[in-house]
Amino acid sequence: MVARKPKAKVDDATVPSEPKVVHPKNPLNELTSTEWLPETVSVWNQRGLGANHPDAAIEREHPAPFSYTDVSRLIRFFTKREGVVLDPFVGVGSTLKACAVEGRRGIGFELNPKYVALTKKRLKKEASNAEAVDWQEVRKGDARKLVQALDENTLDFVITSPPYWNILHKEDHKAKQERIDNQLDTRYSNDKADLGNIDDYEAFLEALGGILGACVKPLRPKKYMAVIVSDFRDKSNYIMFHADLARVLRPYGLEMRGLTVLYQRHKRIFPYGYPYAFVPNIHNQFILLLQNTKK
Ligand SMILES: C[S@@+](CC[C@H](N)C(=O)[O-])C[C@H]1O[C@@H](n2cnc3c(N)ncnc32)[C@H](O)[C@@H]1O
Repeated sequence: MVARKPKAKVDDATVPSEPKVVHPKNPLNELTSTEWLPETVSVWNQRGLGANHPDAAIEREHPAPFSYTDVSRLIRFFTKREGVVLDPFVGVGSTLKACAVEGRRGIGFELNPKYVALTKKRLKKEASNAEAVDWQEVRKGDARKLVQALDENTLDFVITSPPYWNILHKEDHKAKQERIDNQLDTRYSNDKADLGNIDDYEAFLEALGGILGACVKPLRPKKYMAVIVSDFRDKSNYIMFHADLARVLRPYGLEMRGLTVLYQRHKRIFPYGYPYAFVPNIHNQFILLLQNTKK
């Protein structure tokens, strides 16, 4: 019998890694072609930390945070190290945490002082080891005013998830009841300046368009903006918020370059219309990818 040669043990340290080759003319990011390609696929699975992760505790105090890992992906694609990133509706600071981890300079605006304090606490607790934690800045106030104070051509990327009209006031299913039972916020604030408190949909779109449109001046030419939104139901009407927002942003010089579907696999399914009518369980968000076309 011929003795079998033992399989060579594969040790990560001994496997020669592929040299990281970034195209010398790439003005956008520091990705290799292999890293670049999957980011252009138009459907992503949303990647959260999971409700029981110790770092999910602060995030849970906000009614609508986005996942910092998805934000990290976008930041890695649309900026280089030390790039300047703005989130005009920063909530509990998911964007700033991603910037700290990825070595970018983040600026966040937030109206509600409670979320400003939670953002600072989160950076200390969840990103204290990140080299760029001291580069993050959260400014308290109304984004309408704060955006005007930014200097021209100083931002490399804008990424945000704004209020979805006054939809938090309308949500009527069990998920909202669970938040009430756990004494968690079910709306952002009672502040008049809060975009989530505008009752008229067209007035809301105009106010949101005004804030994002004003980012065009500080955003460098040809740079990008990513806006994460979801469509929603208003009674029996289906509102295509993503399309309405793209239409409102166009006159500001923000042109759509792509739309990524963010599939929220973890969401629970509710029998809303059963057995009488079709009522969708909306289990995706959209990432609007826009480019600043100002000269
Ligand atoms: C969808 S949440 C953003 C959540 C954030 N992406 C996160 O992961 O924590 C929208 C945020 O916009 C804030 N907001 C609403 N109106 C605002 C305004 N006029 N200026 C600044 N922030 C505002 C709300 O307080 C809320 O925290």
